[in-house]
Amino acid sequence: MKLYGIGVGPGDPELLTLKAYKILKGVDMIIAPRSSEAKRSRALHTVEEVIKERDCIVVEPVFPMTKDRAKLKQYWKKAREEVLAKGNSCETAAFITLGDPSMYSTFYRFLEVFNDLVEEVEVIPGVTSFSACTSTAQVPLVEGTEIVSIIPDVKAKNAMQVIESSDSLIFLKPKDLDKIEDILGSEKAILCVKVGFEDQKLISGKVSEIEEPRHYLSTLIVKKAIDTEPQDYTRLTQKGELRDTKGKWLYKDLTQEIIGAAMEVHRKLGSGFLEYVYEEALSYELNLKKVHFERQKELDIYYKDLLIPRKYKPDLIVDSKVIVEIKATSGLTEIEEAQLLNYLKATKMRVGLLLNFGTKSLEVKRRIL
Ligand SMILES: C[S@@+](CC[C@H](N)C(=O)[O-])C[C@H]1O[C@@H](n2cnc3c(N)ncnc32)[C@H](O)[C@@H]1O
Repeated sequence: MKLYGIGVGPGDPELLTLKAYKILKGVDMIIAPRSSEAKRSRALHTVEEVIKERDCIVVEPVFPMTKDRAKLKQYWKKAREEVLAKGNSCETAAFITLGDPSMYSTFYRFLEVFNDLVEEVEVIPGVTSFSACTSTAQVPLVEGTEIVSIIPDVKAKNAMQVIESSDSLIFLKPKDLDKIEDILGSEKAILCVKVGFEDQKLISGKVSEIEEPRHYLSTLIVKKAIDTEPQDYTRLTQKGELRDTKGKWLYKDLTQEIIGAAMEVHRKLGSGFLEYVYEEALSYELNLKKVHFERQKELDIYYKDLLIPRKYKPDLIVDSKVIVEIKATSGLTEIEEAQLLNYLKATKMRVGLLLNFGTKSLEVKRRIL
């Protein structure tokens, strides 16, 4: 039998790789581990749409979260029997796992148990949970020579030394946070819960202010000495807020394109110039990307039905959809955010971006009405 170990990403079906998609469309059997009889496999849930019209064999063996070796052995035995009973004549099988198969997954243990039946193996990488977390939160995890470490358990051997010596940290299913408060209490962190799912949540604050999450799909990202204020993610986390009627993020691709262009400008120019310079450079980048935009276009402002005689001129209006305000200050405050929201309300536009080039890393706030 040929066995594929497939990383299906963090839970958002759109983050499945094309390679994984193609294999799942043709494989004879899918093996999807789950943590208990009562629960469905999260990996299977992720690929549901891809396999829904296929009549391949699906096996969901239970691998409970326990360190009890004897108990685990029994479950592995049962899993083997189940796979053999249902898929004896299969030529190809895919073991699917959340994120990437090399990251705290049962895939390699599975391979060991089924070694005698497997003639060929192919492993397909997946988007790791923490990549999805940092992308959603829009934070650069590490830059230059900074070091990042992954902590599966703060009680693991050497964990404290690693925590002390790393610039950035990823805590999987964070617990016992009180143990790291002395070292990291005042550092800024983002707790990412169920990223990629409809009800994802992002909470930012100091490590000491973050409550221990209850959901298994929770990751805490800590970036030491980041010199920007924690972002307000409330709008990213309220179900449906940023999505349009088809369930897609409102102008997601367009805003990502603008942010990508702004990042390029910040990379090249750094901080320290006047706003005008960044506006010129961003316009140049948007032109290169062939994104339509207008500069300093006059927009009408309304108070109820009254048209205010003065006009408002946003720095850029991109594709007639997104208002972009460019700043070059030491840090965005609530005032600029409130202003942007007022502009959105007054002009009846829905999406606004605040881009601040004045800080060490580009500061971005995306606001939706
Ligand atoms: C056993 S590890 C599996 C990691 C996975 N193989 C990967 O590559 O990311 C499970 C942990 O990954 C993190 N995780 C997985 N999916 C996540 C998601 N959608 N949102 C936030 N954290 C997630 C959580 O910390 C969870 O406890």
